[in-house]
Amino acid sequence: MHLFRALTIQFVAWIVAIFALRYTVTPPAGIVSIVIMQAGIAGAFALASRAPRWWVIIHLLFSPLIIAARALDVAPVWYLFAFLALSAVFWSTFRSRVPLFLTNQATARALLQALPQERAVHLVDLGCGTGELLRRLAMSRPDCRFTGVENAPLPWLIARLRNRNLDNVTIRRDDLWSLQLGGFDVVYAFLSPVPMPRLGRKAALEMRRDALLIANSFEIPGLSADTVIDGEPGARALYLYTFAGRHGKNDRKVAEMAPVSPAVPAAASGLLAE
Ligand SMILES: C[S@@+](CC[C@H](N)C(=O)[O-])C[C@H]1O[C@@H](n2cnc3c(N)ncnc32)[C@H](O)[C@@H]1O
Repeated sequence: MHLFRALTIQFVAWIVAIFALRYTVTPPAGIVSIVIMQAGIAGAFALASRAPRWWVIIHLLFSPLIIAARALDVAPVWYLFAFLALSAVFWSTFRSRVPLFLTNQATARALLQALPQERAVHLVDLGCGTGELLRRLAMSRPDCRFTGVENAPLPWLIARLRNRNLDNVTIRRDDLWSLQLGGFDVVYAFLSPVPMPRLGRKAALEMRRDALLIANSFEIPGLSADTVIDGEPGARALYLYTFAGRHGKNDRKVAEMAPVSPAVPAAASGLLAE
C-alpha cells in the first residue's frame, strides 16, 4: 500500500471519528472512544480497499499505539532516535518495497554450489544488506571477486566493516539501478517481487551473454529460469537465468517484455505488493 494512501486512510478515519463523536453527540466523547472508532474505520477502509491483511492490522493499531505511547511519557528525543535508526536501516524501502532480510546459511550453501567452479568469477550482490553473504562467499571462494551495492546507510556501513579484511570484497554505497551489470559474471539478487520485472529488463539489456543472474526466492515474471535450485532443506529457491542473445532461451520473451518504467512496477504482486 502506498504511503500516501495509508496516510489518507488514517486521516479520513480521524476526521470521521472526531466529527461523529465530538460534534454530533452530547456530551462529546473522550479521546479513548474517538481512537477506538478511528481504528475501526481505518481498518474497515483498509479491508474495503483490499489491502493485505498485515496492512489492515497496521491500520487498526496505528492510532491506538500513538495514543498509548504518548501516555507513556517517553522523552521525544527517543522517538527521533528510533526514527533515525529505522531510517538508516530501511532507507528507501517505502519506495523500493525491498526491505532488509538476509540470505540464510542453507541458501548461501546452495548459492556457493551454483557458482561456476572451474573458473574465477566476479559476483555482484544487488542490495548486499549487511554484507554477511558476501563475507561467507568471499571466504569460501578466495579466487573470486565480490562486489556489494547497498543504498541504506547503516547496512552499508556494517557491510564495509564486516568485510574490511577481505581483499576480494568491495562494498559500494550506491543505487543498484545505476550500476552497469555488464562487468559481472554473476549477478545475485535477493530483493522482493516488486522490482523483479524491472531487474529482468535491466539484466537482459546489460548482462553479458555468458553471465548468470541468480534470483533468490523471487522469479522474473515472463522469463523462464534456465535452472531452479530448490532442493536443500531450509534453503530458499534460487532461479538461474542466462540471457544468451539471439538464440538464447529467453531471447523471444525478453524482446516481448514491455519496457519497465523506473517507477515501482504496478503489476508486480506478492509478499510486499499491495
Ligand atoms: C532482502 S535484502 C538482501 C540482503 C543481501 N543481499 C542478502 O542476500 O543477504 C535487500 C537489500 O537491498 C537493499 N536495496 C533495496 N533497494 C536498493 C537500491 N535501489 N539500491 C541499493 N540497495 C537497495 C535494501 O536496503 C536491502 O538491504
